[in-house]
Amino acid sequence: MNSTPETWNRVLTQDGSRTLLDPEGRACHASEGAWDQALLRYAAGVEMAKRGDTKVRLLDVGVGLGLNMAAALAAVEGEGRSLEVTGLELHLNPLQLAIAEPEPLANPWHQKVTEALELSLADPELAEAEGVPLGERSRLWLKVGDARETIYSLPPERRFDAVFLDPFAPKEQSDLWEPNFLCAIAERMDPGSRLATYCAASAMRADLLRAGLLVGRLGRVGRKAEGTVAGPAPANLPPLPPRALRRLKQRAADPAPKSAPEDSK
Ligand SMILES: C[S@@+](CC[C@H](N)C(=O)[O-])C[C@H]1O[C@@H](n2cnc3c(N)ncnc32)[C@H](O)[C@@H]1O
Repeated sequence: MNSTPETWNRVLTQDGSRTLLDPEGRACHASEGAWDQALLRYAAGVEMAKRGDTKVRLLDVGVGLGLNMAAALAAVEGEGRSLEVTGLELHLNPLQLAIAEPEPLANPWHQKVTEALELSLADPELAEAEGVPLGERSRLWLKVGDARETIYSLPPERRFDAVFLDPFAPKEQSDLWEPNFLCAIAERMDPGSRLATYCAASAMRADLLRAGLLVGRLGRVGRKAEGTVAGPAPANLPPLPPRALRRLKQRAADPAPKSAPEDSK
């Protein structure tokens, strides 16, 4: 399952934060700014301040370096609430590299995430069953393995106010964009919840509609003109242009999708 940590390379992004390239050269974040992407595409994308109540339950798909998780922690603990994160990650390597990072990647929030990751890797069974402390008043349940399988091993009552869907780009990796996996996520999203992803591919958006979610448009982050936000009805999402929505609905009504999603970071 795991390549050696050396084959994952740290790279500097233009906002001064670092990200990783996996052994196949796939980037964990856009080159313009890993931390900016975490803040703007994910934490702001789901409008973290409006999710949950005194606590926010987050599903973090593709934990990687934990930057998106750190952006969520900043948003939620920063306003005095608590975050409960279920993190799904296939590889140990990015987690180990995040822990071993010689300088904090972005800020104190990421430091708190790496401490929780370290506790999780020290006792993986505890991390899955009871979770480990995260930040001042939050908690992390980490599951290492293929998210398409581990999502089914979560307790049935585990539901989410927010989902970060951050696999590698669809043209580089298709597994976490599979319709069945998107359905499994949608089934665990509570009313009022939101999913954010950088992907804006029509095929993926049609799969979200088929999974029973409404779909909206997130604006530009760096060079990426748009991303996607989705949620159960009534979701009150930033709307897609009417023509794009019509075409998407037609596509979603097609019982035999023609192609896999295509998009890049
Ligand atoms: C784009 S990176 C995520 C970056 C991360 N969200 C962050 O904030 O640092 C994609 C991550 O998905 C993980 N991944 C790839 N396939 C997976 C799978 N089938 N199940 C779970 N994680 C997977 C990769 O190992 C990688 O860490």
